[in-house]
Amino acid sequence: MQDHPANPSNAVSRRHFLKNSTIAASAAGTGFLAGCARHKQAIAATAAAAAPAVARAQAKQPINAVIIGLGGRGSGAGRDFMEASKALGVEGKIVAVADIFPDKAITGKDNFGVPEDKCFSGFDAFQKALAVPGVNYAILATPPGFRASHFKAAIEAGKNVFMEKPVAVDGPGCRVVYAAGEEATKKNLKVAAGTQRRHRPSYIEAVKRVQDGAIGDVIALRVYWVNGGPIWHRGDQGATEIEKQVRNWYHYIWLCGDHICEQHVHNIDISNWIMKAHPVKCWGMGARQQLEGKSGEIWDNFSVEFQYANGVRVQGSCGQIKRAWSSVSEAAAGCTGVAEFYDGRNFIKSADGKMWRPTGITEDNGYVNEHRDLINAIVNDTALNEAKQVTDSTLTAIMGREAAYSGSEVDWDTVLNSNFTYGPDLLYKDCAKMEWGAFRTLQPPMPSMHDIFKDPPMVPVVKV
Ligand SMILES: NC(=O)c1ccc[n+]([C@@H]2O[C@H](COP(=O)([O-])OP(=O)(O)OC[C@H]3O[C@@H](n4cnc5c(N)ncnc54)[C@H](O)[C@@H]3O)[C@@H](O)[C@H]2O)c1
Repeated sequence: MQDHPANPSNAVSRRHFLKNSTIAASAAGTGFLAGCARHKQAIAATAAAAAPAVARAQAKQPINAVIIGLGGRGSGAGRDFMEASKALGVEGKIVAVADIFPDKAITGKDNFGVPEDKCFSGFDAFQKALAVPGVNYAILATPPGFRASHFKAAIEAGKNVFMEKPVAVDGPGCRVVYAAGEEATKKNLKVAAGTQRRHRPSYIEAVKRVQDGAIGDVIALRVYWVNGGPIWHRGDQGATEIEKQVRNWYHYIWLCGDHICEQHVHNIDISNWIMKAHPVKCWGMGARQQLEGKSGEIWDNFSVEFQYANGVRVQGSCGQIKRAWSSVSEAAAGCTGVAEFYDGRNFIKSADGKMWRPTGITEDNGYVNEHRDLINAIVNDTALNEAKQVTDSTLTAIMGREAAYSGSEVDWDTVLNSNFTYGPDLLYKDCAKMEWGAFRTLQPPMPSMHDIFKDPPMVPVVKV
């Protein structure tokens, strides 16, 4: 679909979607075009835009937030929360922070004015922060491996939650988040997720138009998180294996989920959003090509094809390899047009040549908007719970990863109901009680030699 992502407008004019023989041929062979037969309506080019009004908070309920995981994103999310509170005229404050490492936790003092005795550290720091009186807002921004347990704890403690994506790294972790998400609804707690495109008018408007028929029935999608270079690697610092892994968390599956889960979840989420569904099965491939000689378990590229229940497929590619092109984008092809998404420079081109682009948008910063929307939901008591949608997209990514790792087709129910956990035993049982110590390192997965669904699971280790 997108043959040269660096220049979207040229890419579209170079090839009119409906004349794209590659897609047409592959679609014909896979049944993608089945949906076209159902398409009877003209393009709904005038579909109502869905930009959310910036509802001013009606009540002035103070929001007392804690940040759990005070690294790059946790600190950024804290600033975004403050900016959103200010814009809404709500009294917002960071009252406590938690980080596993003391030197990170203490940055809460200078950066957010948090008293030193409320800058908690250690595996149980999240519990201490959540227990601070008056806390009603938890920002969860640790590495993804801890998210499920921290989310469960926050909901049990009765807090509204902003949680970063992805929300888990395996099926058992996703089940914890699904259950806690349902509990949040029962308790009338509000939950927003760090899939920030869902809070950007440039995406909201475009996706709504597609859902309303602007390109006809969607017949195929493709999503990219293709970096033109490697991800960070922090080396092997720490006295124990667990410390080394937590400090260099991106490179361990139990902490990161691999980059198809960690980053590509954003793009997969757009596909699921457009389709109002999650895929039911997938197959794919990938490799560890440019991480040679570096510690860790992960791969640096994946290419996975996912299929939705209605037969429509999405092709997802992600990679962290030095290469000449890069693209973080999404595209959907319909019977009567194409929609493409480039960090807000989104457009919809219909078969009759009409081009739609989002215009007049002034507040398209998803990082701030996600807090604005969460705060608004809290103070106005309106519904907001993004736990299920972000978990659906996280599990989609996990399903893709396991299909590529194993070299087998994987279906939704298998990954959802799987019992293999990548992390230490205590991770989902009582992660506050975890300690620095020994832990296994897995061999980077090799198709036909790695399969977590086998009994017993086939997961070769490098060292125990
Ligand atoms: N939505 C986005 O665009 C976006 C952007 C960047 C990062 N993120 C997400 O934010 C999360 C964190 O990423 P980052 O870039 O900030 O990483 P980071 O390494 O900069 O920060 C993670 C922090 O969590 C701390 N931590 C680790 N385990 C902990 C535990 N058990 N309890 C408390 N603290 C713990 C670490 O010490 C570190 O300070 C990831 O899930 C990532 O995907 C999202």
